[in-house]
Amino acid sequence: MQLSKDWIKDLIIYQIYPRSFCDSNGDGIGDLPGILSKLYHLSNLGVNALWLSPVYRSPNDDNGYDISGYQEIMEEFGSMEDWDRLRDACRERGIRIIMDMVVNHSSDEHPWFTESRSSRDNPKSEYYIWRDPVDGHEPNNWASCFGGSAWEFVPERGQYYFHYFSKKQPDLNWACPELREEIYSMMNWWVAKGVEGFRVDAISYLDKPQDFPDSKLSPRPDGYSFPDCLSCRPGTHDHIREMNRRVYSSGNVMTVGEVSAPTVEELANYVRTEREEFDMAIPFVPPIEEINTWSPEKLKHDAWESYRIMPEEGWWARFLSNHDKPRQVSLYGDDGEYWEASAKLLAMFIHTLPGTPFIYQGEEIGMTNVSFPSFEDYDDPSTRDQYHQYILSGMDPSKALSLVRLESRDNARTPMQWDSSENAGFTTGKPWLKVNQNALKINVAAQRQDPHSIYSCYKNLIALRKTCPALSRGNLCFLDTGCPELIGLTRSYEGKGLLVFLNFSKDGHTIPSGLLENIGAVLMSSYDREGGYQGENLRPYEAVIFKMKD
Ligand code: NOJ
Ligand code: CA
Repeated sequence: MQLSKDWIKDLIIYQIYPRSFCDSNGDGIGDLPGILSKLYHLSNLGVNALWLSPVYRSPNDDNGYDISGYQEIMEEFGSMEDWDRLRDACRERGIRIIMDMVVNHSSDEHPWFTESRSSRDNPKSEYYIWRDPVDGHEPNNWASCFGGSAWEFVPERGQYYFHYFSKKQPDLNWACPELREEIYSMMNWWVAKGVEGFRVDAISYLDKPQDFPDSKLSPRPDGYSFPDCLSCRPGTHDHIREMNRRVYSSGNVMTVGEVSAPTVEELANYVRTEREEFDMAIPFVPPIEEINTWSPEKLKHDAWESYRIMPEEGWWARFLSNHDKPRQVSLYGDDGEYWEASAKLLAMFIHTLPGTPFIYQGEEIGMTNVSFPSFEDYDDPSTRDQYHQYILSGMDPSKALSLVRLESRDNARTPMQWDSSENAGFTTGKPWLKVNQNALKINVAAQRQDPHSIYSCYKNLIALRKTCPALSRGNLCFLDTGCPELIGLTRSYEGKGLLVFLNFSKDGHTIPSGLLENIGAVLMSSYDREGGYQGENLRPYEAVIFKMKD
């Protein structure tokens, strides 16, 4: 079955984490008027879709991923009128708004939960997942993602509720039909308001095993074990299909699910067109795992596997960054000597793969990880949990701090670096999270007019994609370069094609001469500041895109 929404192949999506993008009123917190004032930045880059991380009413236990009012705007971010203005401005600029929809769980401050917890026989009793104590304890040994047990006791009901994330994020009970109806009608309300896409959070956990068996995974230092049978249950796919039918069957709403799936086959099950679930999926991999296991070869392998098992029958999201990951140039590139070349190389990798490129705010100027001096500077609940697990396991605090510095989601959440003024032009007040000190050097103003900047590289890649069907629609072939750190690939469509080489290392590597027989003009180079491509001996982090001879 062919993709019915062909237009999704032309999307280039920019993710905004509103709290950290631009503060309009000096309270140190990014907001909707701030985003509106910077919309030109997105247009200048050429992006045509904006994924807005949650802006709904929320007590901010997990920065908006704990929603207490789905049809309201978080006060700190502005008002519904501000959202309407943003929607209108996006429309004028040809930018689709994609809302982040968090429906695996809500906030414990949502009125549904207040009611549900009040007694066993209230009308919303079944909206959440309640279980009796077992031998006076939690119903099973499951750990919450953010530390401790996944169960919390409520005396009013004499029962525990289930929360896969923090205890302020109780899981919604998708087995309850009335709850599902509420969710669909709320999502349709947003569609009627003009939303043209949803990124749906933590979607692979919707269905729960009713018997909640103990997990057989080894316990974490705090004694609880991550669940071993929560992800990708068949019932979850049923719920997603129902959501598709009830909310986005009109064909004008683009959808991307955030999925935790053990294999690429399972991931593909969320996005095969014939299954009518999502248009694309964002695979979730825990940062620690990624830091420990990534390699250029693995990046290539994952890209190839996803393409190989589904070349036509669905579509992929392509990204290296988001608000849950360390900064891409620090993780996969080099944020020291080869900062500029490696940031461009990573951009050239993502934008030349088949699928929709996702750009996370700040990536387009090569923002890097931050190294806060003290643990107290970190805000993210998962960073705090990780640090405590390290300490509980007997690790020295300075070693624990050095590890969380690498892994923390706060790396991606430091304020956007607009210019070299105080607080990087993000706020006139005290920013909610410290600004990265390298803002003096790394900022939008320093790069906007520079034709060789990382920002210009993104702009050129986006422009190239728009005029080059081989990039948006072409097939993919990886080349055997004889070197795992040197990735070579081709994209071709209707007889026209591109050839791409990416040297993912601090060493020089040579392109085998046989692979250069078909090259035409050089279209882009990560060494454009140094005069561009100078022959088959590629320099550290050198990347080059050639046109293929017709
Ligand atoms: C995934 C989101 O991307 C992340 O930021 C959040 O903490 C969890 N889901 C829980 O909503
Ligand atoms: Ca503000």
